[in-house]
Amino acid sequence: MSFNLFDAEEKAIERAKALGERIALDAPECSAGFNELLEAFTRSYREQRRLVRFSDRLQGQLATLNQELERRRQEAETALARLQEAQEVLVQSEKLASLGALVAGVAHEINTPVGIAVSCASHLADATGKLKALTEQGGLGRNDFNRYLATATDTTALILANCERAAQLINSFKQVAVDRASAERRGFALNAYIQETLVSLQPRLRQGNHAVSVDCPPGLTVDGFPGALSQILTNLVMNSLQHGFGPEHEGRIAITVTQPDPDTVVLAYADDGRGIPAEIMPKVFDPFFTTRRGEGGSGLGLHVVHNLVVGPLKGGITVGGAPGRGALFTITFPRVAPGA
Ligand SMILES: Nc1ncnc2c1ncn2[C@@H]1O[C@H](COP(=O)(O)OP(=O)(O)O)[C@@H](O)[C@H]1O
Ligand SMILES: [Mg+2]
Repeated sequence: MSFNLFDAEEKAIERAKALGERIALDAPECSAGFNELLEAFTRSYREQRRLVRFSDRLQGQLATLNQELERRRQEAETALARLQEAQEVLVQSEKLASLGALVAGVAHEINTPVGIAVSCASHLADATGKLKALTEQGGLGRNDFNRYLATATDTTALILANCERAAQLINSFKQVAVDRASAERRGFALNAYIQETLVSLQPRLRQGNHAVSVDCPPGLTVDGFPGALSQILTNLVMNSLQHGFGPEHEGRIAITVTQPDPDTVVLAYADDGRGIPAEIMPKVFDPFFTTRRGEGGSGLGLHVVHNLVVGPLKGGITVGGAPGRGALFTITFPRVAPGA
């Protein structure tokens, strides 16, 4: 049912027209004035109708706009969710990439002792072959035998030492790799764990003649997430190599662990590289912030570090240092990670 908003006005105009006809007959001197009034009223009535139609149209447009706005909001929300998913994937692949670097580093480290052991073993095999030939020919003298004994003693000692070194490397690597992949909680000796993590980074550090010093209380054990810690250190070292040290710079990295109280661990990581300009310090932990876009920078390294510190480690991280005097990261976390 349509409702005429101007019903009363239209009827009043009808009545006024009838009245106008009577006035024209009964009081013609008033007729012109009355007609003027009637016209004014009719104009005002038309104007009102026009305004009402206009406002209806505006309300309609507003409703459409609101719908459009809601649609765009939903689109933006979906896009944001997709972006967050993509970011998660990138963070995971950054972690995998550094795990790959770890594997490559350890493989490289193991190469040396295994290579030495192999060449010692083949040297020993040669010497043994010669001894055997001499024995078969009946020409084995005391000197030959003594020389062989000396060779065998030296080479077996070298083989043993290098196999032990390789086994050690494999063990520490196994632990670090498992910790990285499993993210499981356990108790561990902090000093030894830092050293084990650094083993995998040695080849790269040696390449530029960089040196790392670790100063950590020897008896300090941490109950928490060693995989997270190893990932954090790896990312920090890779950044020192990538951003801190120039090609000619023989860098120094100092890792210093202190305990302001028995339940708190403070790990200070400092390099003596280029440092981080103060104006970008507030942004370095942001995802995708990098000063090396297009040159291998993803901007996720420190974001991952930050997430691991505030996540599993339940701690905090600050960035400091001064341009030209190196970068400094200070990580503070409870010795025993809270929670079950
Ligand atoms: N040790 C460092 N020395 C100088 N600058 C650094 C250091 N570590 C990080 N930065 C700066 O912080 C930025 C963000 O680091 P990161 O999140 O690891 O991303 P990416 O290494 O992919 O650039 C780097 O692009 C660099 O500008
Ligand atoms: Mg990085």
